[in-house]
Amino acid sequence: MLRRMLLAASASDLIRAMVVAAPPTAGVVARYVAGDDTAAAVAAATRLRARGLLVTLDYLGEDTTDADQAAAVAAEYVALLARLRADGLARGGAVEVSVKPTAIGLHLPEHGEKTAAANLARICAAARDAGTTVTADMEDHTHVEATLRLVRELRDDFPDLGCVIQSQLRRSLADCAELAGPRSRVRLCKGAYQAPEQLAFTTRAEVDRSFARCLPVLMSGRGYPMIATHDPRLIRITAAQAELTGRGHSGFEYQMLYGVRPAEQERLAGTGAQVRVYLPYGRDWYGYLVRRLAERPANLAFFLRSLASRS
Ligand code: FDA
Repeated sequence: MLRRMLLAASASDLIRAMVVAAPPTAGVVARYVAGDDTAAAVAAATRLRARGLLVTLDYLGEDTTDADQAAAVAAEYVALLARLRADGLARGGAVEVSVKPTAIGLHLPEHGEKTAAANLARICAAARDAGTTVTADMEDHTHVEATLRLVRELRDDFPDLGCVIQSQLRRSLADCAELAGPRSRVRLCKGAYQAPEQLAFTTRAEVDRSFARCLPVLMSGRGYPMIATHDPRLIRITAAQAELTGRGHSGFEYQMLYGVRPAEQERLAGTGAQVRVYLPYGRDWYGYLVRRLAERPANLAFFLRSLASRS
C-alpha cells in the first residue's frame, strides 16, 4: 500500500519540488547515486573495479518528451563510453552501460520507437568500439512490448544487447523462455514499477515465486543470465542453480544496486562469482530515488523523519 502510494506520488510535480529542495535529500541521494557528472561516475566505477566488482553505468533520466533531449542523452552515453575506453575501464565488458528507452525517445509523442532505436543503435556502436556492452532497462508495463521489440530489432546488428525481465509481470516466464537463446544477455529482476493486477503479481510472495520460476529457465538456457536481486533467498537459489546447471562463475553474473547490500556484493565476489553493480549518475535522480525508497519502508521512514525535523 505504502509502495503504491509512493510510486503514484512520484508523478506529482509539487512533491518532486519539495523533495529535491529538501536539505536531507542530498545524503539519501549520495547513498544511491555516484554524483552529478561523468567524472564522478568514472571515479565511482574505478573504486568499484578496485574492489573486484563489475559495473553498469546508468545516466539518470526517463520519460523524455523532446527529441533533442533524447539525442543529448544518447550523446552523453557516447561520450561516457569514449571516456571508459580511454581509461581502460570498458575492456572485456568490465564496465558497461544501462539505458532507459524512454530517456532516448521511446515516449516521444511522434516516432518514439524509431527515435529510440536510432539512439540506442548509436550507443551500441560506441559500446562495441569500446569493447563493452549495453543493457536496455525495463520501465513500466506500458513500455514492455515496445522495449522488447526494440531489443529484438537491434540484436540483429548488436547480438549482445541485453534486456530485462521483471518477474512481477505474469508474462515473464514466457518471455524468459523466448529470450534464453544463444548469446542472449538477460537481466532478471523483480520489477520496480506499479502495474495493474491483470498484468502483474501483486504480493511479494507471488513476485518471488515468479522469480524462482523464471530463474531456472534462464540458467538452463543458452544465454547469459544476469541475476539482479539483493534477496538472500533468491541469491541462494541462484547459486544452487549455477551448481546444478554446471554454469560455473563465468557463465552468469549477479547484479546489485549501488548502495544496497555492499558487504554482500563483496562477499559474493570473494567466492569467485561475477558481481556487477548498477551505478547511476546525473542530476535527474528523482524517479530513481523514489523507486529505491519504495523498495524499503525503513529508508522512507528515515527520509520522512529527517524532512519533518527540518521543516
Ligand atoms: P527485495 O525488494 O525483496 O529486497 C531484498 C532485500 O534487499 C531487502 O530486504 C533489503 O535488505 C535489500 N534492499 C532491496 N532494495 C533496497 C533498497 N532500495 N534500499 C536498501 N535495501 C534494499 N527494476 C525494473 O523494473 N527495471 C529494471 O531495468 C531494473 N534494473 C535493475 C538492475 C539491477 C542491477 C538491480 C539490482 C535491480 C534492478 N531493478 C530494475 C530493480 C528491481 O526490480 C527491484 O526493484 C530491486 O532490485 C529490489 O528487489 P530485490 O530483488 O532486491 O528484492
